[in-house]
Amino acid sequence: MIQYHLISNFCNGAIIMPPRVSVRRIFLCVLLGGGALVLLTLNQKLSWVNVQSPTLLPHFRFQTARPLPAAQPSAEENSGQTEAPPLPPSREENGRAWFFSDGNVYPKRADVQPALFPEESSGDRIIEQLIYVPENYQGYDTQEKVILAYNGLNQWGQKAGPGTFHECPVNRCTLTGDRDAATDADAIIYKDHFTHPGVMRPSKQVWILYFLECPYHTQNVKLHDVFNWTATYRRDSDIVAPYERWTYYNPQVRQMAQARDYAANKTKKVAWFVSNCGARNGRLAYARELAKHISVDIYGTCGPLKCPRSDKKCFDLLDKDYKFYLAFENSNCRDYITEKFYVNGLGRNILPIVMGARPEDYERSAPDGSYIHVDEFASPAELAAYLHRLDKDNDLYNSYFRWKGTGEFINTYFWCRLCAMLHAPFKPKHYDDVNNWWRGPGVCTSRSWRNVET
Ligand SMILES: *[C@@H]1O[C@H](CO)[C@@H](O)[C@H](O)[C@H]1NC(C)=O
Ligand SMILES: *[C@@H]1O[C@H](CO)[C@@H](O)[C@H](O)[C@H]1NC(C)=O
Repeated sequence: MIQYHLISNFCNGAIIMPPRVSVRRIFLCVLLGGGALVLLTLNQKLSWVNVQSPTLLPHFRFQTARPLPAAQPSAEENSGQTEAPPLPPSREENGRAWFFSDGNVYPKRADVQPALFPEESSGDRIIEQLIYVPENYQGYDTQEKVILAYNGLNQWGQKAGPGTFHECPVNRCTLTGDRDAATDADAIIYKDHFTHPGVMRPSKQVWILYFLECPYHTQNVKLHDVFNWTATYRRDSDIVAPYERWTYYNPQVRQMAQARDYAANKTKKVAWFVSNCGARNGRLAYARELAKHISVDIYGTCGPLKCPRSDKKCFDLLDKDYKFYLAFENSNCRDYITEKFYVNGLGRNILPIVMGARPEDYERSAPDGSYIHVDEFASPAELAAYLHRLDKDNDLYNSYFRWKGTGEFINTYFWCRLCAMLHAPFKPKHYDDVNNWWRGPGVCTSRSWRNVET
């Protein structure tokens, strides 16, 4: 079904593909139909553009709702709703947007320029970028954009050439790791480390700074007026590259009944897997204080319990035995939310307790009602008191799992979005002082966010 839908779209010209002479097109459609079926099936199994190899969490796909449109731009603004209102009519009712795991709906050319850059919207703009096809984009007749990965393609796990963009709605881009291309590439991307190429730079060339880690663990870039775009997990980056991106199938359906009792058979309280004891946010001291009021089992180098990471059974404990998991990041920095939360926490049948980014950052990034932030409580003792209450009240505990099945952690197709943006009619821009943007006042704190004015 999915494949036929795609091919019929192709033959109707609904998918942005090279315009062809119609006779040739009909011939191609007939000829390629069969082959395309096979190829498309294969494509769905392979991920060509896998920047952060997002973990697909199988249980997120259970109880999938009926096919729904892609998340609307206003998704973040809607507050959590427990009851689903009738669905708005949609022209995409035949399937999900292409970036969902079973998505098959490809975008058309935009007639209105969406908000792509942080100056234009306070959102992360990921969905807008994923479904953006520039108005004048002509498929194969469009000049290919050359993107130079200045620190090499191995770091990205990508191959030179256009293959990376294969699945993208806007795919006229090619990757190179050859620094000789610095003189005339359309874009240069610096991953985690910047050194000046030292050659003349065309003014239309876009320099992009990509950081994966938080400010405490990234380079100090002292040069002013060099970077045009940023690509980091920060929500106000030009191309936001989060560790995971939760996306509702339908932003109006954010909670659903669950078949399972998440409290069943659990005999233990709080678990924490941790290897780095000397973090910058006092998380170990917090956990030890918490442990005075509720049972906290600390696994790893900072605690008495051992369970090697390689042993899959360790993480099974989180599903079966424990009620709460400390998803504490090693730094309190704006928007810094990693796999610790998404995979060890939300990816399991356990309630994560978070420390790291600001409460409002979690609110925007996580499914509604899926976690507890330490800053909701004045002290570890008060948090412990609430956890005891949850421990006794199974309905209240289960209310933290009602988001499951309402969406998925999507592949955010970093390269596809970059390619689409390079083809956009963007205005020149640059960061005067990217270091100040990245690590200036208010970005990170060594204390609780409760004590920081933001
Ligand atoms: C709880 O244990 C019972 C008995 O072993 C088992 O049948 C049931 O599936 C378990 N429930 C969950 C949610 O794991
Ligand atoms: C990129 O930044 C440089 C340096 O500030 C500037 O001269 C150039 O116009 C910018 N180009 C684009 C495409 O934004």
